[in-house]
This record gives sequence, structure tokens and C-alpha cells, in this order.
Amino acid sequence: MTKILGISASPRNEATDFVVKRALEKAQEFGVETEYISLRGKKIKNCNHCDYCMKNKTGCIINDDMKWITEKFLEADGYIIGSPVYTYNPTPEIISFFNRLRPMRFLPKIGSKFKVGGAISVGGTRNGGQEMTINCLINCFLAREIMVIGGSMGNYSGGKVWTDNQGKIGAEHDELGLLSVTDLGQRVAEAALLLRDKR
Ligand SMILES: Cc1cc2nc3c(=O)[nH]c(=O)nc-3n(C[C@H](O)[C@H](O)[C@H](O)COP(=O)(O)O)c2cc1C
Repeated sequence: MTKILGISASPRNEATDFVVKRALEKAQEFGVETEYISLRGKKIKNCNHCDYCMKNKTGCIINDDMKWITEKFLEADGYIIGSPVYTYNPTPEIISFFNRLRPMRFLPKIGSKFKVGGAISVGGTRNGGQEMTINCLINCFLAREIMVIGGSMGNYSGGKVWTDNQGKIGAEHDELGLLSVTDLGQRVAEAALLLRDKR
């Protein structure tokens, strides 16, 4: 079965968790299986560029939560990754996460060929850097050989949510933002289903 993994990069259970789950619910309507992981409380150390992964080609030497999360990541066919906007950027959690995926090219269940990913950003201010944050997440997908899925016509780069600094309640009030989220969920599901047989 085609599987979409949703990841929230928020350190708290508020708007980003809520909208990533909303996108996954929409994806399920199109016949994909979904799984959800929050990075909250997970131990994901920064990559220290020791190059163990490049020399040994067996994965990362650091023993933390990235071990099992990487396995889940490699199993999935598509991704919906959501991050709060922090200072016009994604959270440090998700940047560490993508850096720590550096060894994925060497791992047995190779990787990301024909895998798809879509991004969601959640900001407290209406134009507080949602697009910058999405672009950054898109670049992370590209760096890991994941094909980027954006929104349908008019929705541009993906899910963009404004919380008015009210967390989940604020996100629930952002009708257009939620539409951009479900639109992305649908498109990631459809693209993953289309490309499933290519892998
Ligand atoms: C350190 C920090 C930096 C932030 N920077 C921005 C920002 O640049 N732009 C913005 O719109 N919101 C910013 N916010 C607000 C959050 O994006 C907003 O509260 C969002 O809802 C957080 O996602 P969450 O509800 O899933 O935790 C920042 C919040 C924190 C804690």
C-alpha cells in the first residue's frame, strides 16, 4: 500500500500538529495509508560532519531517535512535512532532521527515487515568512532526491497557515490556510499513487 508519512516539526502540540494531521486525513480519502510523527521531544542531535556515514556507508553513528525515524522515512512513499515559522525559517528540529538524513543514499531500502514531498508552514503573522519557510523545506526535499509537490493552481507552493499567534485555535480560523493544507494533502496522495509502480 502507498504510504504517506506526515511530520510535524513543532516543539509543541498546537497548530502545526493539527494541520499536518488535517493534510493526512485528506490524503487518506484518496486511498493511501498514512503515519504521523511529531518531532516534539525527540532526540535528534545536530550532524557534526564526522563523515562516518560517508566512509562506512552504513548510516549515522549517532545513536538517537533519528535511527528509527530514518527507517520510517525510508519506508514511506511520500511526505507531508509541516514546520512553524521561526524567525522567517523552519524550526531547527527539521533542519537537523534533514541534515541527519545525509546517509540515506547508502541505506538498503534505497531512498527516495520517485518519492514525493509537500510542505506546510505555519506562522503567527499573516505574512510572517510562510513562503520563505516552505521554500526552505522544498530545498530540503530536493537535497534528499524527493520530488516536490506544490499546491494546485492558485495555491502555489503548498500549505500556508496563519495562526494570528493563537496556536491551533488560530489555525482553525484560517479557512483559506486550511484549504491550502487539504489541497496539498490531496496532491501528495495522488502523486504518490501515480509514481508507486516506478519504485
Ligand atoms: C522563536 C519563535 C520565532 C517565531 N518567528 C516567527 C516569524 O518569523 N514569523 C511568524 O509569522 N511567526 C513566528 N513565530 C510564531 C509561530 O510561527 C506561531 O506561533 C506558530 O503558530 C507556531 O506553530 P505551532 O502552533 O505549531 O507551535 C515565532 C515563534 C517563535 C517561538
